[in-house]
Amino acid sequence: MFGRTSDEEKYTRLRRKMVEKQIVARGIHDRAVIKAMLEIPRHEFVPAKMRHLSYTDSPLPIGYDQTISQPYIVALMSQELQVRPQHRVLEIGTGSGYQAAILSRLAGEVHTVEIVPELYQRSSAVFLALELDNIFSHLGDGSIGLKQHAPFDRIIVTAAPGIVPDRLIEQLADDGRLILPVGTFEQKLVTIIKHDGVTEQIDGPKVRFVPMTGIIEKIN
Ligand SMILES: C[S@@+](CC[C@H](N)C(=O)[O-])C[C@H]1O[C@@H](n2cnc3c(N)ncnc32)[C@H](O)[C@@H]1O
Repeated sequence: MFGRTSDEEKYTRLRRKMVEKQIVARGIHDRAVIKAMLEIPRHEFVPAKMRHLSYTDSPLPIGYDQTISQPYIVALMSQELQVRPQHRVLEIGTGSGYQAAILSRLAGEVHTVEIVPELYQRSSAVFLALELDNIFSHLGDGSIGLKQHAPFDRIIVTAAPGIVPDRLIEQLADDGRLILPVGTFEQKLVTIIKHDGVTEQIDGPKVRFVPMTGIIEKIN
């Protein structure tokens, strides 16, 4: 009991330091994103063996050849997505569930899709334990989107396809924003904005994500 309390205090201190040195010092200024990064316990999304590294400045392995993204990248993508409390958000690539948890503090509703059954099960259990009840988890191939719940005000993809999947643009609401890494070896972060059915693409920094799998692999 005492051990757990002091662990929580230690993690809270490490989390504050992470936000100060890795997030705010690098230019993240959206107050809601900063608040979410301060509040969501990243260590709950990291496998027990790696937990002591939860607040370091890097991605971490979560098993099944997958990773939880670097905290700064989670903050950058969340800020760029410009999520508002009335928004319905789609995330492709639940992984550990950490990015979805951050989004759940910014949006009205988050739908998140994962293709690896074990990661879907593990992240769903963490959402339940933390009572993040505006997150809806789905098991399946997110490269085709989530038609039954479309359209979405915001879409975020955390695995890299070689090209922007058409289905995701179709499932984006008008005035919607989609952010995703695009490319095979060399990837860039791309933001797509839809206005009156017309899309505009803004290219961002170089990034390194795991490749998107599923149907999209066959057309890359
Ligand atoms: C970099 S990890 C995601 C990090 C995650 N957002 C987090 O916060 O931990 C990428 C995830 O995308 C998943 N993925 C890859 N292709 C997918 C697809 N077609 N549909 C759904 N999930 C996919 C992988 O299994 C992996 O869990």
